Amino acid sequence: MCGIVGYIGPREATDIILEGLCNLEYRGYDSAGIAVQINGKIDLRRGAGKLSNLQKILAEQPLTGHKGIGHTRWATHGKVNEINAHPHRDCNGDIVVIQNGIVENYLPLKETLRREGHEFRSETDTEVLPHLLEQYIKEGVPNLESAVRRMLQNIEGSHAIVALRAQEPEVMVAARLGNAGGVVVGYGDGEMFLASDQPAILQHTRTMVFLESGEMAVVTQRGAKYYKIDGTPIEKTPQTVAWDPISAAKGGYKHFMQKEIYEQPRSLTDTIDGRLNVEAGRVELEGIPFTRAEMQGFKKITILACGTAWHAALAGKFMFEELARIPVEVDYGSEYRYRNPVVEPGTLAIAITQSGETVDTLEAMAEAQRKGARVASIVNVLGSQADRIADAKIHVHAGPEIAVASTKVFTGMLADQLMLAIMLGQARGTLDDRRARQLIDGLLRIPNQAGELLELAHDAMYEELASKIYSATDMLYLGRGINYPVALEGALKIKEISYIHAEGCPAGEMKHGINALIDRTLPVVAIALNDAVYSKMLSNIEQVKAREGIVIAIATEGNTEVREKADEVIYIPPVDYMLSPILSVIPLQLLAYKVAVWRGADVDQPRNLAKSVTVE
Ligand code: G6P
Repeated sequence: MCGIVGYIGPREATDIILEGLCNLEYRGYDSAGIAVQINGKIDLRRGAGKLSNLQKILAEQPLTGHKGIGHTRWATHGKVNEINAHPHRDCNGDIVVIQNGIVENYLPLKETLRREGHEFRSETDTEVLPHLLEQYIKEGVPNLESAVRRMLQNIEGSHAIVALRAQEPEVMVAARLGNAGGVVVGYGDGEMFLASDQPAILQHTRTMVFLESGEMAVVTQRGAKYYKIDGTPIEKTPQTVAWDPISAAKGGYKHFMQKEIYEQPRSLTDTIDGRLNVEAGRVELEGIPFTRAEMQGFKKITILACGTAWHAALAGKFMFEELARIPVEVDYGSEYRYRNPVVEPGTLAIAITQSGETVDTLEAMAEAQRKGARVASIVNVLGSQADRIADAKIHVHAGPEIAVASTKVFTGMLADQLMLAIMLGQARGTLDDRRARQLIDGLLRIPNQAGELLELAHDAMYEELASKIYSATDMLYLGRGINYPVALEGALKIKEISYIHAEGCPAGEMKHGINALIDRTLPVVAIALNDAVYSKMLSNIEQVKAREGIVIAIATEGNTEVREKADEVIYIPPVDYMLSPILSVIPLQLLAYKVAVWRGADVDQPRNLAKSVTVE
């Protein structure tokens, strides 16, 4: 989950690396460090805590040079302090390494290296890597490239690694093993870049190569050579990526999360753009290789995801079951991969992942693939691992999402699933043209409706609501049907960024336990839209009120009776049931954001979390 940046070229490496790390801080913010080649040596600066601490250290003790690497850490092994921060060094400080992943066999390796006389400074698994490289070179391995190759054959686990050696000022060596995180090689004009994710280097280049597992890059100022870890050279053609640096910047907003919430009219437009054939009443998703016969033959869908994407998947279940009449199972990536799941012929596995790099989702995908499922992915980061290995590639065109708590990509994932469900339903003959057209019309209206919800005029209402509930210690979110996953997502948003304990609950289940929690201090958010379960939701609201809970209802414009029952009502425009989660989640995102700001929390970088989770 850590962030990685590397630079070699004519400019000041420190400036470029720091700027890249700033764009990657969502990857981890326990500590940060930079190593730069200066004459025949490598010098480094590291700081515990946020990147700003490293920036202060660098202001006092600058680093100048034209080749270097930097890292933001999300701690796995060893406390959060300067000693455990990357880059890590060998005994003499000649070799430095940054890594994303876990060296699973680091203890025996450390023991062996200790016996050889190596001295360790940190508690991390990573530190064995520079010592291993030092050891191999001591044993006669001719250069860094060969030493890294040998090292990759001796370490266990998944890794993204970049290494430098003072005696080889012309090269940086990068490698990827498994799914612990991506390695992107960026091509500039007389300069080259390395990164764990595209936003780190987008200001400088959009021409990039993505390393696959088991591949290495030997990067000089003039370009890069690629190899398998057994040394076989490989050709890799640089691609031009679609994102631009402006979309990865904060703009005039106070936080990335706020910007990303407000971007939803645009991200939804981009996600449906060119995919709805209004005249024909059909959805035309690119990147789907399935024949009509194959789509007709699907007997089961298994959706694999984590976190917010898992909530999107739960809503997707309603779409696929209703429109394509295929039974759907939704699984956490981390559970599926360790369960020996039954994968019968005719299974379509859909991996949903913003980053395309979440290791649990990737491993679950691989498990489904191994067991014979056809695999589709819904990703926001094009070129990510989940995008590359899927048979069917469906993209959320939301642009870079930087805040750790996902917002605009969640609604994009919902739109993508609905479009896929319509496509499958039409191919299977389970969705009639009239209904398909209704849904397509609904999708076309969604960006404007999201815009209505986000009009600045409503800001004061959220502000006031947040001021009333920000000191709560617990919250409850209720929903039914397709809006039950939205209740879960609302609770997750508030937990992630406000640190208020919150639960999402199917409203019908309250009476089986949750009711015991309700008292006059508990804010309860109830999604009570104008759909088949509206009257049931109204009764649930009454049950909360009878126990003196504070009810904030999300309701459909025009439904006035809810106003009499709830303490506060946030209205959303009338919307088709299947599309309703796209709108009903927006007030919950805004509320979580405002509450977090009231609590003075670190909205974009909540404690102990990271955006891309590349460790198990
Ligand atoms: C982390 C992030 C969540 C995200 C989850 C899955 O936990 O903090 O916001 O939903 O990972 O990430 P993915 O990239 O697979 O969607």
